[in-house]
Amino acid sequence: MEARSIKLSPACFVFLGCLWGASLAESLGATPTTWAQIGRQVFFDTSLSEPRGQGCVSCHQPKAGFADPRQVSPGAVKGRQGLRNAPTLMYAALIPSLRLEDTYDEQGEVEYLVEGGFFRDGRSQNIFEQIRVPFFEPQEMNLKDDAALAHKLRNAAYKKELEGFVGEEVWQDDSRLNNSVYRALVEFLREPVFRPFDAPIDDYWAGQTEALSLAQRRGLKVFENEGKCANCHWTSISEWPKPLLTDSGYDNVGAPGLGQRDPGLGGVTGLKEELGFFKVPTLRNIALTAPYFHNGSIKSLREVIEFYNQRDVEQGRWEPPHYPGTMNREDLGDLKLTQQQVDDLVALMEAFTDRSLLNLQEGDLLPKVSSAIPATEQSRAFFMDPPDPIDVSSPRRPSNRVAK
Ligand code: HEC
Ligand code: HEC
Repeated sequence: MEARSIKLSPACFVFLGCLWGASLAESLGATPTTWAQIGRQVFFDTSLSEPRGQGCVSCHQPKAGFADPRQVSPGAVKGRQGLRNAPTLMYAALIPSLRLEDTYDEQGEVEYLVEGGFFRDGRSQNIFEQIRVPFFEPQEMNLKDDAALAHKLRNAAYKKELEGFVGEEVWQDDSRLNNSVYRALVEFLREPVFRPFDAPIDDYWAGQTEALSLAQRRGLKVFENEGKCANCHWTSISEWPKPLLTDSGYDNVGAPGLGQRDPGLGGVTGLKEELGFFKVPTLRNIALTAPYFHNGSIKSLREVIEFYNQRDVEQGRWEPPHYPGTMNREDLGDLKLTQQQVDDLVALMEAFTDRSLLNLQEGDLLPKVSSAIPATEQSRAFFMDPPDPIDVSSPRRPSNRVAK
């Protein structure tokens, strides 16, 4: 970790430059603002889209765990929409940057698996790459180019604060101004509100057995054993000091196909064997973020669990998947769980909800948190600068390449 933290990427130099600019502005008596505070303003700003009316908050709604309760989100332009359900932003800043993990397949041949990365298909390798995308997607905020965003920012309600914070030189430069705003949004998503770890399951793991009901405790056993859930939604610690309920990998659970085919990870890597693969999402706050799966095809947690349990035996209940050839048939599809075990798993999922989100009151913009893990002073060591981009389409498995 030490070696990695001293490797500064060019983006980091730019950032440090901005930071010095900011502290200079502060020492000259301008408002003492932080990156995260700027990010927060931008997050709630619905004047930046074209036409106006949409911002991050429109599709990542606090009361829905910063996900979208709609199956897919409508864009700023009437009639436009994407193919995917907007995921939660809780714990999103903790998703590792994309990397290739080497393992061996059944034939003993080296195989490189994709882990980490942003969006459900991993098409943005790290959060810095991801954060700029929504502004310019035609089916999202629909801005034409850098100049359009910079122009909107210079007219935002918080323009004085932003100008004072970034300094005159950056304020006048479209791409540097936009870059500061991306950086600010990343810092905002790293704030304690997005990583409180204050769910009942956390109390339970901290030793308070009664934090979970009996049904939930039975559910946790099923989750880690017969249900095989923890094979992919890890309950152990990996890179963060608390379980994130994901292994950051990709798989094809055979989600019911809706409308246009969505190649997922295979569309990004060009590998046939990864068609229909989507990122394993965190299950933290899952009870707040219906509907489920990349296309929002499943409406309730009970139905998700019935799907995992019965997909391959209850013929005709769900639409056929778009990519049956790559579908996982080993870990799910016919789990043979009893009704009691299904009920217990449903109960367990409720224990993944952060109390701070449950306590959100009508009119509160953001939840109030009393803790974050690790505490902000130590969190820098965990939020690393993005590594150099990786070529995921390099010949990992040339025989399986999809003709594009
Ligand atoms: C029109 C709705 C919409 C708007 C506006 C929007 N998003 Fe999203 N967001 C989505 C959808 C849908 C996805 C998933 C897309 C995909 O996987 O291809 C997503 C994915 C993300 C992710 C990736 C999470 C992950 O698990 O990989 C982050 C982070 C994110 N959005 C942040 C933002 C921020 C910050 C803004 C404002 C600048 C924003 N979004 C604006 C709909 C939206
Ligand atoms: C082989 C890996 C794997 C196993 C095992 C697994 N999951 Fe998943 N899980 C995934 C993937 C991949 C997705 C995303 C699928 C998609 O978007 O199409 C997912 C999505 C989900 C979702 C919806 C998340 C969301 O935000 O839409 C829930 C809930 C869930 N899993 C619960 C469980 C439970 C409960 C079990 C055990 C019964 C389980 N999973 C077992 C890989 C797995």
